[in-house]
Amino acid sequence: MDRDILKQQLEYTLDKTNFDDQGELYRGKVRDNYINDDIITMVTTDRISAFDRVLGTVPFKGQSLVELADWWFGETADIVANHVLRRPHPNVWRVRRCQPIQVEMVVRGYLTGVTSTSAWTAYKRGDREFCGNEMPDGMRKNEKFPEPILTPSTKAAQGDHDESVPPSELYKRKILEPGLYKELARIAMRLYERGVSRATDHGLIFVDTKYEFGISNGKIMLMDEVNTPDSSRYWMVDDYEARFEKEEEPRKLDKEYVRTWLVEQGFTGDGKPPKLTDELRVEAAARYMEVVENFTGEPMQLEVGPVDESIYSILNPFAY
Ligand SMILES: Nc1ncnc2c1ncn2[C@@H]1O[C@H](COP(=O)(O)OP(=O)(O)OP(=O)(O)O)[C@@H](O)[C@H]1O
Ligand SMILES: [Mg+2]
Repeated sequence: MDRDILKQQLEYTLDKTNFDDQGELYRGKVRDNYINDDIITMVTTDRISAFDRVLGTVPFKGQSLVELADWWFGETADIVANHVLRRPHPNVWRVRRCQPIQVEMVVRGYLTGVTSTSAWTAYKRGDREFCGNEMPDGMRKNEKFPEPILTPSTKAAQGDHDESVPPSELYKRKILEPGLYKELARIAMRLYERGVSRATDHGLIFVDTKYEFGISNGKIMLMDEVNTPDSSRYWMVDDYEARFEKEEEPRKLDKEYVRTWLVEQGFTGDGKPPKLTDELRVEAAARYMEVVENFTGEPMQLEVGPVDESIYSILNPFAY
């Protein structure tokens, strides 16, 4: 991996966009969404969030996410329809606007995590029931569950943390009907199994992930992103067993690398986050790209320079 290009891009990363002619702007933590009737122009920026906070930018992260999600949307299209219509720019999708289902479908194959909502955090404090799933006694951190588990979480309002809830609670709170939940659960499990199988082909462990669904024209659609290093954990398979035996952390190709760094700096979501160092930003960028290139099998086409200008020149060709 050529770290020089990543370093050169540090000063040009895409922090945010402010296009006033692309629709009504809804800014999520990572994406700038321009809503125009039933179409959203979804700009994936280089912002990185962890512990539900935006912390800065990582070179080419937006492009990496879109590139990989695009690949996975293709690999999973036989399981469920998805929202993507076009990709006019490496960072941009035009997507079908859906009625979002207010539950994130989280599938976990391994007992791990560092945040307050992670399965390992619950297990460590003695919980053996997690979101309606039994967790066997005697498990260790980063161990594979006997079967993958589904742990739905409600999508928090902006600024809040997400909350894991068992399906029974979703029904009680009238967030979802049992029929729809069961259908989503079936799809999420199939998506996860597909993820595991493709990841195995590429020397990676597909640890866990979350899926977001919406409804469009009465149909269930996979929306947002799919199987990216932001929404999923990926570990290297080759030395996983050896490291697990020695109680060492697996080698990680996902955002967990950044989360672990933050925890080392004493940040777990409260107070002022530490400023990301350029070294960390470059290292994170390299990891994002490594996952992408690993799956797509092609080197990413990188262009050093201001991303917002290159996007706008495509979205509005008369602007520059
Ligand atoms: N096809 C779609 N139709 C409607 N909404 C969508 C679609 N795809 C994604 N979304 C929503 O658009 C937003 C994407 O932005 P982003 O991923 O940055 O947000 P986030 O930080 O994850 O979540 P939040 O918006 O809650 O802060 C998410 O709220 C996601 O649920
Ligand atoms: Mg999101």
